[in-house]
Amino acid sequence: MTATKPILIIGKNGKTGSRVDALLKQQGLKTRPVSRSSHPSFDWNQPATWPVVLQDVKLAYVSYQPDLAVPNAESTLRSFIDAAQDQGVEHLVLLSGRGEDGAIRAEKALIESGLRWNVVRASWFFQNFSESFLVEPLIDGEVSLPVGDVLEPFVDCNDIAEVAVAALTNPALANRLFEVTGPELLAFADCVALISDTTGRSIEFNQVPIEPYMDFLKDLGTSEEELWLLRELFTRVLDGRNSHIAHGVEEALGKPPRRFIDYVKAAHKNGAWDTAQLNQA
Ligand SMILES: NC(=O)c1ccc[n+]([C@@H]2O[C@H](COP(=O)([O-])OP(=O)(O)OC[C@H]3O[C@@H](n4cnc5c(N)ncnc54)[C@H](OP(=O)(O)O)[C@@H]3O)[C@@H](O)[C@H]2O)c1
Repeated sequence: MTATKPILIIGKNGKTGSRVDALLKQQGLKTRPVSRSSHPSFDWNQPATWPVVLQDVKLAYVSYQPDLAVPNAESTLRSFIDAAQDQGVEHLVLLSGRGEDGAIRAEKALIESGLRWNVVRASWFFQNFSESFLVEPLIDGEVSLPVGDVLEPFVDCNDIAEVAVAALTNPALANRLFEVTGPELLAFADCVALISDTTGRSIEFNQVPIEPYMDFLKDLGTSEEELWLLRELFTRVLDGRNSHIAHGVEEALGKPPRRFIDYVKAAHKNGAWDTAQLNQA
Protein backbone atom coordinates (compact mmCIF):
# COMPACT_ATOMS: atom_id res chain seq x y z
CA MET A 1 0.00 0.00 0.00
CA THR A 2 2.76 2.42 0.97
CA ALA A 3 4.54 1.84 -2.37
CA THR A 4 1.92 3.89 -4.22
CA LYS A 5 1.90 6.72 -1.66
CA PRO A 6 4.58 9.38 -1.90
CA ILE A 7 7.30 9.34 0.74
CA LEU A 8 7.46 12.85 2.20
CA ILE A 9 10.92 14.41 2.46
CA ILE A 10 11.16 17.55 4.57
CA GLY A 11 14.30 19.39 3.54
CA LYS A 12 14.10 19.10 -0.25
CA ASN A 13 17.31 20.95 -1.12
CA GLY A 14 19.13 20.10 2.08
CA LYS A 15 22.39 18.25 2.43
CA THR A 16 20.56 15.10 3.57
CA GLY A 17 17.05 15.56 2.09
CA SER A 18 18.35 15.87 -1.47
CA ARG A 19 20.29 12.60 -1.06
CA VAL A 20 17.38 10.76 0.57
CA ASP A 21 15.21 11.88 -2.34
CA ALA A 22 17.73 10.69 -4.96
CA LEU A 23 18.17 7.26 -3.33
CA LEU A 24 14.41 6.67 -3.01
CA LYS A 25 13.89 7.66 -6.65
CA GLN A 26 16.68 5.26 -7.70
CA GLN A 27 14.60 2.51 -6.06
CA GLY A 28 11.62 3.56 -8.17
CA LEU A 29 9.74 4.97 -5.17
CA LYS A 30 7.52 8.00 -5.38
CA THR A 31 8.66 10.98 -3.28
CA ARG A 32 7.29 14.35 -2.23
CA PRO A 33 10.32 16.55 -1.41
CA VAL A 34 9.29 19.83 0.26
CA SER A 35 10.73 23.03 1.71
CA ARG A 36 9.75 26.72 1.69
CA SER A 37 10.50 26.92 -2.06
CA SER A 38 8.53 23.81 -3.14
CA HIS A 39 4.97 23.80 -4.50
CA PRO A 40 3.10 23.28 -2.27
CA SER A 41 5.54 24.78 0.21
CA PHE A 42 6.42 23.60 3.70
CA ASP A 43 7.63 26.00 6.38
CA TRP A 44 8.42 24.91 9.94
CA ASN A 45 7.38 28.39 11.08
CA GLN A 46 3.97 28.20 9.39
CA PRO A 47 1.92 25.23 10.63
CA ALA A 48 -0.82 26.10 8.11
CA THR A 49 1.51 24.76 5.39
CA TRP A 50 1.81 21.29 7.01
CA PRO A 51 -1.53 19.46 6.35
CA VAL A 52 -1.39 19.79 2.56
CA VAL A 53 2.04 18.19 2.22
CA LEU A 54 1.07 15.45 4.71
CA GLN A 55 -1.97 14.37 2.67
CA ASP A 56 -1.78 10.75 1.42
CA VAL A 57 1.55 10.22 3.17
CA LYS A 58 2.42 7.12 5.25
CA LEU A 59 6.20 7.57 5.53
CA ALA A 60 8.27 10.71 6.02
CA TYR A 61 11.91 11.78 6.40
CA VAL A 62 12.09 14.81 8.67
CA SER A 63 15.04 17.23 8.85
CA TYR A 64 14.21 20.15 11.12
CA GLN A 65 15.29 23.77 10.56
CA PRO A 66 17.41 25.35 11.79
CA ASP A 67 18.33 22.70 14.42
CA LEU A 68 16.60 20.56 17.05
CA ALA A 69 18.79 22.30 19.65
CA VAL A 70 16.87 25.60 19.37
CA PRO A 71 14.50 26.36 22.27
CA ASN A 72 11.17 26.02 20.40
CA ALA A 73 12.12 22.89 18.40
CA GLU A 74 10.52 20.37 20.75
CA SER A 75 7.13 22.11 20.83
CA THR A 76 7.15 22.67 17.05
CA LEU A 77 8.02 19.03 16.45
CA ARG A 78 5.26 17.89 18.85
CA SER A 79 2.74 19.96 16.86
CA PHE A 80 4.09 18.50 13.63
CA ILE A 81 3.76 14.93 14.96
CA ASP A 82 0.12 15.68 15.92
CA ALA A 83 -0.55 17.02 12.42
CA ALA A 84 1.09 13.92 10.90
CA GLN A 85 -1.05 11.60 13.06
CA ASP A 86 -4.19 13.55 12.08
CA GLN A 87 -3.36 12.92 8.40
CA GLY A 88 -2.77 9.17 8.91
CA VAL A 89 1.04 9.15 8.71
CA GLU A 90 2.40 5.87 10.11
CA HIS A 91 6.19 6.23 10.30
CA LEU A 92 8.56 9.19 10.78
CA VAL A 93 12.35 9.06 10.39
CA LEU A 94 13.86 12.02 12.23
CA LEU A 95 17.34 13.44 11.64
CA SER A 96 18.86 14.50 14.95
CA GLY A 97 22.17 15.80 16.28
CA ARG A 98 24.50 14.35 18.92
CA GLY A 99 25.04 15.93 22.31
CA GLU A 100 22.19 18.44 22.11
CA ASP A 101 19.70 18.56 25.03
CA GLY A 102 16.97 20.00 22.79
CA ALA A 103 17.49 17.22 20.26
CA ILE A 104 17.09 14.56 22.95
CA ARG A 105 13.78 16.14 24.02
CA ALA A 106 12.57 16.21 20.42
CA GLU A 107 13.63 12.58 19.85
CA LYS A 108 11.66 11.60 22.97
CA ALA A 109 8.55 13.35 21.62
CA LEU A 110 8.72 11.13 18.52
CA ILE A 111 9.66 7.93 20.34
CA GLU A 112 6.68 8.32 22.72
CA SER A 113 4.22 9.44 20.00
CA GLY A 114 2.77 6.02 19.19
CA LEU A 115 3.91 6.34 15.55
CA ARG A 116 6.48 3.95 14.09
CA TRP A 117 9.74 5.86 14.38
CA ASN A 118 13.44 6.00 13.68
CA VAL A 119 15.98 8.51 14.88
CA VAL A 120 19.17 9.06 12.88
CA ARG A 121 21.37 10.91 15.37
CA ALA A 122 24.34 12.29 13.47
CA SER A 123 27.73 13.82 14.22
CA TRP A 124 29.01 16.88 12.28
CA PHE A 125 28.60 16.44 8.56
CA PHE A 126 31.53 16.17 6.09
CA GLN A 127 29.39 18.29 3.76
CA ASN A 128 29.60 21.33 6.08
CA PHE A 129 32.99 21.77 4.36
CA SER A 130 31.63 21.63 0.80
CA GLU A 131 27.93 22.57 0.82
CA SER A 132 27.62 25.01 3.70
CA PHE A 133 29.20 27.87 5.61
CA LEU A 134 32.81 26.62 5.34
CA VAL A 135 32.99 26.68 1.53
CA GLU A 136 33.80 30.38 1.25
CA PRO A 137 36.59 30.47 3.89
CA LEU A 138 38.13 27.31 2.37
CA ILE A 139 38.19 28.93 -1.07
CA ASP A 140 39.59 32.11 0.47
CA GLY A 141 42.40 30.04 2.03
CA GLU A 142 41.69 30.85 5.67
CA VAL A 143 39.31 29.11 8.04
CA SER A 144 38.87 30.77 11.45
CA LEU A 145 36.62 29.03 13.97
CA PRO A 146 36.18 29.15 17.75
CA VAL A 147 37.26 25.54 18.07
CA GLY A 148 40.59 24.01 19.04
CA ASP A 149 41.89 20.48 18.95
CA VAL A 150 38.64 18.82 19.99
CA LEU A 151 38.14 15.58 18.07
CA GLU A 152 34.90 14.95 16.16
CA PRO A 153 33.87 11.80 14.24
CA PHE A 154 32.55 13.73 11.19
CA VAL A 155 30.06 11.75 9.08
CA ASP A 156 29.19 11.65 5.37
CA CYS A 157 25.66 12.81 4.43
CA ASN A 158 25.61 9.95 1.91
CA ASP A 159 25.80 7.50 4.83
CA ILE A 160 23.09 9.43 6.71
CA ALA A 161 20.84 9.28 3.64
CA GLU A 162 21.45 5.53 3.16
CA VAL A 163 20.60 4.88 6.81
CA ALA A 164 17.43 7.02 6.54
CA VAL A 165 16.35 5.19 3.36
CA ALA A 166 16.96 1.80 5.00
CA ALA A 167 14.84 2.93 7.95
CA LEU A 168 12.07 4.13 5.62
CA THR A 169 11.99 1.00 3.47
CA ASN A 170 12.91 -1.92 5.77
CA PRO A 171 10.19 -2.55 8.39
CA ALA A 172 12.62 -4.77 10.35
CA LEU A 173 14.56 -1.61 11.32
CA ALA A 174 11.53 0.26 12.75
CA ASN A 175 11.58 1.79 16.23
CA ARG A 176 15.38 2.03 16.46
CA LEU A 177 17.80 4.87 17.03
CA PHE A 178 20.88 4.85 14.81
CA GLU A 179 23.73 6.96 16.12
CA VAL A 180 25.79 7.62 13.01
CA THR A 181 29.38 8.87 12.84
CA GLY A 182 32.31 8.48 10.53
CA PRO A 183 34.99 5.85 11.18
CA GLU A 184 37.66 8.20 12.62
CA LEU A 185 38.15 11.11 15.00
CA LEU A 186 39.49 14.30 13.39
CA ALA A 187 40.14 17.84 14.57
CA PHE A 188 38.89 20.73 12.38
CA ALA A 189 42.54 21.56 11.66
CA ASP A 190 43.05 17.97 10.38
CA CYS A 191 40.07 18.33 8.02
CA VAL A 192 41.34 21.63 6.66
CA ALA A 193 44.84 20.16 6.20
CA LEU A 194 43.41 17.20 4.23
CA ILE A 195 41.45 19.59 1.99
CA SER A 196 44.54 21.75 1.55
CA ASP A 197 46.72 18.72 0.60
CA THR A 198 44.13 17.30 -1.79
CA THR A 199 43.39 20.57 -3.58
CA GLY A 200 47.06 21.61 -3.57
CA ARG A 201 46.07 25.03 -2.24
CA SER A 202 47.40 26.71 0.86
CA ILE A 203 44.59 26.90 3.44
CA GLU A 204 45.24 28.07 7.00
CA PHE A 205 43.24 27.04 10.04
CA ASN A 206 43.07 29.43 13.01
CA GLN A 207 41.35 29.00 16.34
CA VAL A 208 39.72 32.26 17.41
CA PRO A 209 38.06 33.19 20.72
CA ILE A 210 34.29 32.77 20.77
CA GLU A 211 33.27 36.40 21.57
CA PRO A 212 35.10 38.14 18.69
CA TYR A 213 33.79 35.39 16.39
CA MET A 214 30.20 36.10 17.52
CA ASP A 215 30.75 39.86 17.08
CA PHE A 216 32.10 39.22 13.58
CA LEU A 217 29.02 37.15 12.64
CA LYS A 218 26.71 39.76 14.16
CA ASP A 219 28.33 42.46 12.03
CA LEU A 220 27.66 40.27 8.97
CA GLY A 221 23.94 40.39 9.81
CA THR A 222 23.61 36.86 11.24
CA SER A 223 20.22 36.46 12.97
CA GLU A 224 19.92 36.17 16.77
CA GLU A 225 18.63 32.59 16.38
CA GLU A 226 21.64 31.57 14.27
CA LEU A 227 24.03 33.29 16.69
CA TRP A 228 22.45 31.39 19.59
CA LEU A 229 22.75 28.13 17.67
CA LEU A 230 26.37 28.66 16.65
CA ARG A 231 27.34 29.51 20.22
CA GLU A 232 25.58 26.31 21.39
CA LEU A 233 27.37 24.25 18.73
CA PHE A 234 30.83 25.65 19.35
CA THR A 235 30.71 25.87 23.15
CA ARG A 236 28.65 22.77 24.04
CA VAL A 237 28.34 20.28 21.18
CA LEU A 238 32.06 20.66 20.41
CA ASP A 239 33.33 20.57 24.02
CA GLY A 240 34.55 16.99 23.69
CA ARG A 241 31.31 15.25 24.68
CA ASN A 242 31.00 13.77 21.17
CA SER A 243 34.64 12.72 20.76
CA HIS A 244 33.80 9.07 20.33
CA ILE A 245 32.76 6.88 17.43
CA ALA A 246 29.31 5.28 17.18
CA HIS A 247 28.25 2.38 14.98
CA GLY A 248 24.84 3.29 13.56
CA VAL A 249 25.97 3.04 9.93
CA GLU A 250 27.14 -0.59 10.36
CA GLU A 251 24.04 -1.41 12.46
CA ALA A 252 21.63 -0.16 9.79
CA LEU A 253 23.54 -1.01 6.61
CA GLY A 254 25.96 -3.80 7.53
CA LYS A 255 28.90 -1.86 6.06
CA PRO A 256 31.42 0.65 7.42
CA PRO A 257 30.92 4.42 7.11
CA ARG A 258 32.72 6.42 4.44
CA ARG A 259 36.12 8.04 5.21
CA PHE A 260 36.74 11.80 5.22
CA ILE A 261 39.65 11.59 2.78
CA ASP A 262 37.52 9.78 0.19
CA TYR A 263 34.82 12.45 0.56
CA VAL A 264 37.46 15.19 0.09
CA LYS A 265 38.81 13.57 -3.09
CA ALA A 266 35.29 13.24 -4.56
CA ALA A 267 34.24 16.77 -3.56
CA HIS A 268 37.47 18.20 -5.05
CA LYS A 269 36.87 16.28 -8.29
CA ASN A 270 33.33 17.75 -8.41
CA GLY A 271 34.72 21.28 -8.04
CA ALA A 272 33.47 21.94 -4.50
CA TRP A 273 36.34 24.32 -3.73
CA ASP A 274 36.91 25.80 -7.19
CA THR A 275 36.89 29.59 -7.17
CA ALA A 276 34.10 29.46 -9.78
CA GLN A 277 31.85 28.15 -6.98
CA LEU A 278 32.39 31.40 -5.11
CA ASN A 279 31.58 33.51 -8.15
CA GLN A 280 28.31 31.61 -8.63
CA ALA A 281 27.23 32.05 -4.96
N1 LIG B 1 25.25 20.20 9.75
C1 LIG B 1 25.58 19.28 10.64
O1 LIG B 1 26.74 18.99 10.85
C2 LIG B 1 24.48 18.55 11.39
C3 LIG B 1 24.83 17.52 12.26
C4 LIG B 1 23.82 16.80 12.92
C5 LIG B 1 22.49 17.14 12.70
N2 LIG B 1 22.20 18.18 11.85
C6 LIG B 1 20.78 18.53 11.64
O2 LIG B 1 20.49 18.48 10.28
C7 LIG B 1 19.31 19.26 10.05
C8 LIG B 1 19.46 19.99 8.74
O3 LIG B 1 19.50 19.02 7.74
P1 LIG B 1 20.29 19.25 6.40
O4 LIG B 1 21.68 19.68 6.72
O5 LIG B 1 20.06 18.08 5.54
O6 LIG B 1 19.51 20.49 5.83
P2 LIG B 1 20.12 21.83 5.23
O7 LIG B 1 21.15 21.50 4.22
O8 LIG B 1 20.46 22.71 6.39
O9 LIG B 1 18.77 22.28 4.53
C9 LIG B 1 18.62 23.49 4.10
C10 LIG B 1 17.22 23.57 3.48
O10 LIG B 1 16.24 23.72 4.50
C11 LIG B 1 15.20 24.53 3.96
N3 LIG B 1 14.64 25.38 5.04
C12 LIG B 1 15.26 26.39 5.69
N4 LIG B 1 14.43 26.94 6.59
C13 LIG B 1 13.25 26.26 6.51
C14 LIG B 1 12.00 26.35 7.18
N5 LIG B 1 11.76 27.30 8.10
N6 LIG B 1 11.04 25.47 6.85
C15 LIG B 1 11.23 24.54 5.89
N7 LIG B 1 12.40 24.38 5.22
C16 LIG B 1 13.40 25.25 5.53
C17 LIG B 1 15.87 25.38 2.86
O11 LIG B 1 15.18 25.23 1.64
P3 LIG B 1 14.14 26.39 1.25
O12 LIG B 1 14.91 27.67 1.21
O13 LIG B 1 13.58 25.94 -0.04
O14 LIG B 1 13.13 26.37 2.37
C18 LIG B 1 17.26 24.78 2.67
O15 LIG B 1 17.56 24.41 1.35
C19 LIG B 1 19.15 20.20 11.24
O16 LIG B 1 18.05 19.77 12.02
C20 LIG B 1 20.44 19.96 12.00
O17 LIG B 1 20.27 20.07 13.38
C21 LIG B 1 23.14 18.87 11.19
